[in-house]
Amino acid sequence: MDVTQQTGHEQTALWNGRAGHAWVEAQEFLDQMFKPFEGLLVEAVSAGSGSRVLDVGCGTGSTTLAVARLLGTKGRCTGIDISDPMIAAARVRAERESTPTNFIRADAQTHAFEPASFDMIISRFGVMFFDDPVRAFANLRRAARDDAELRFIAWRSAAENPFMTTAERAAAPLLPNLPARRPDAPGQFAFADQRRVTPILEESGWAGIDIRPIDIACTLPEKALVRYLTSLGPVGLILQEADDRTRTQVVETVRAAFDPYVHRAEVRFTTACWMVSARAR
Ligand SMILES: C[S@@+](CC[C@H](N)C(=O)[O-])C[C@H]1O[C@@H](n2cnc3c(N)ncnc32)[C@H](O)[C@@H]1O
Repeated sequence: MDVTQQTGHEQTALWNGRAGHAWVEAQEFLDQMFKPFEGLLVEAVSAGSGSRVLDVGCGTGSTTLAVARLLGTKGRCTGIDISDPMIAAARVRAERESTPTNFIRADAQTHAFEPASFDMIISRFGVMFFDDPVRAFANLRRAARDDAELRFIAWRSAAENPFMTTAERAAAPLLPNLPARRPDAPGQFAFADQRRVTPILEESGWAGIDIRPIDIACTLPEKALVRYLTSLGPVGLILQEADDRTRTQVVETVRAAFDPYVHRAEVRFTTACWMVSARAR
């Protein structure tokens, strides 16, 4: 899905550089791939009573816009993201479909939100990249009114998400510089261990913490698969700078490793995630 685990400034550089641009270019198929998660968050907003919603790490804005459409004139959804290219893409989409939203280009960990200005805070895979998660969730807590709901989706472990790590397993022998995943470091699988997530939320002012496993079937068009593996994730990032020979070898090897997931024109896989919810105490 995304990037190697790195720390604060590196994350900023990454999402404003290669990873951010790759996500913008892949926006259409990534949105299709992650649509079921968007549905779950929209349902949660619909079931709640809040009308001022914040989408953290909103990326190119698919979830923000889906919630904004649901709220209509009765509320407003604000998206915040650290990535310039992704926020720019989100603003273009909002303008194109004339959906009123507010997109902020800032670090959610430190941004000076107006206190108590949100009834609900959501995120689809956007809260695992903070170098200081307690500080980040405390900042989000200040932005939330008392009793506001926090609801986010994060990945369970790499071992439970073999599709997400197929490329790096297959490419490892060909790419000696492929960085190893570091458990708990900022990155895709930073919240894989739920025993780590609960104290982070407790320490930052959230209560009633509920962490449930969700296993969600996802698809992407087979014709997007090579683009997926050559532009996203640790392998995609390295390939952006690889020489032609290495690139050809890796693409061939990695594409073959995805064969078990390919069903004619469609790639199918099941994701293992957490649905996390909490209340501002
Ligand atoms: C895996 S992408 C998910 C994007 C979007 N939520 C989606 O589902 O399409 C993670 C997003 O988190 C953003 N992000 C990472 N660190 C952040 C931070 N400290 N503050 C705000 N956004 C951040 C990245 O720029 C990126 O857009």
